[in-house]
Amino acid sequence: MQANGNSWVLITGASSGFGEEFARQYAEQGKSLVLVARRLDKLEALSAQLREQFSIEVIVEQVDLSSIPAAIELHERLTRRGITIDVLINNAGHGLQGPFVEHTLDQSLAMIDLDIASLTAMTRLFAADMRDRRRGHILMVASLLAYQGVKHFSVYCAAKAYVLRFSEALHQELKRDGVVVTALCPGMSDTGFAQNASQKLTPALKMVMMQPEPVVRAGIRALQAGRMSVVPGFGNKAITVLTWATPRRFHQRLMTQVMGT
Ligand SMILES: NC(=O)c1ccc[n+]([C@@H]2O[C@H](COP(=O)([O-])OP(=O)(O)OC[C@H]3O[C@@H](n4cnc5c(N)ncnc54)[C@H](OP(=O)(O)O)[C@@H]3O)[C@@H](O)[C@H]2O)c1
Repeated sequence: MQANGNSWVLITGASSGFGEEFARQYAEQGKSLVLVARRLDKLEALSAQLREQFSIEVIVEQVDLSSIPAAIELHERLTRRGITIDVLINNAGHGLQGPFVEHTLDQSLAMIDLDIASLTAMTRLFAADMRDRRRGHILMVASLLAYQGVKHFSVYCAAKAYVLRFSEALHQELKRDGVVVTALCPGMSDTGFAQNASQKLTPALKMVMMQPEPVVRAGIRALQAGRMSVVPGFGNKAITVLTWATPRRFHQRLMTQVMGT
């Protein structure tokens, strides 16, 4: 535990996609890691690989973060072990595509539990410790869809808008306490996400699709630079400019076509 002077990076949703890539990039920096997700086999395989390749310390925590008591217990377990989380990557999340009224209420509420309630709980628990120590970094993984309401992504867009606004407000609140809060807003990226969200990949989406590596690199760089938010990739940045510069009915129609809804 002393290799990094008891300074750890906690990554939620570390069993695949962006989370796995965050783990690799922080491992390259020699950081000690706490990896959190539900699929224990994936977390253990990744941790064995990272320990072997980078000689770092890795703790694996199998937690279903859609349960707030489970998030609180995670925080308590780490506190009891004397683990100091200096970087929190709030990445776990899942999407849902399709007409709102055709999803079950449980499907929509499950997304709110994970993407909003759990992210808020994790931030509250670890940000308070960081404020007391007067140091810390928190990255919130939002989405390009935080910038507009897109048909057939209603709850997802709303949840990610929450993440972005929550993050921007906390950036201002906590900076005087030595805690950096940054929102990462990726566009379509090549992770397991589209498949899990039952999302169709249109030709336009395939064209703008990014690999996890540059997305995560942009997020870590923005967090280390103390920025409020970052949209990775030229195509994604162009879409945010278009959203600011055009009437809602125009950019909503365009995004509906891009997203194939
Ligand atoms: N890929 C994209 O196009 C894209 C674009 C914008 C934003 N995002 C955001 O990026 C984040 C990561 O997604 P991804 O693209 O990397 O997709 P992914 O490969 O499906 O990864 C999602 C991660 O979240 C974890 N997770 C899901 N439910 C969980 C739960 N209840 N408790 C704990 N962990 C849970 C999953 O692990 P387990 O299943 O093992 O629990 C997995 O590690 C999400 O917040 C997503 O909204 C993705």
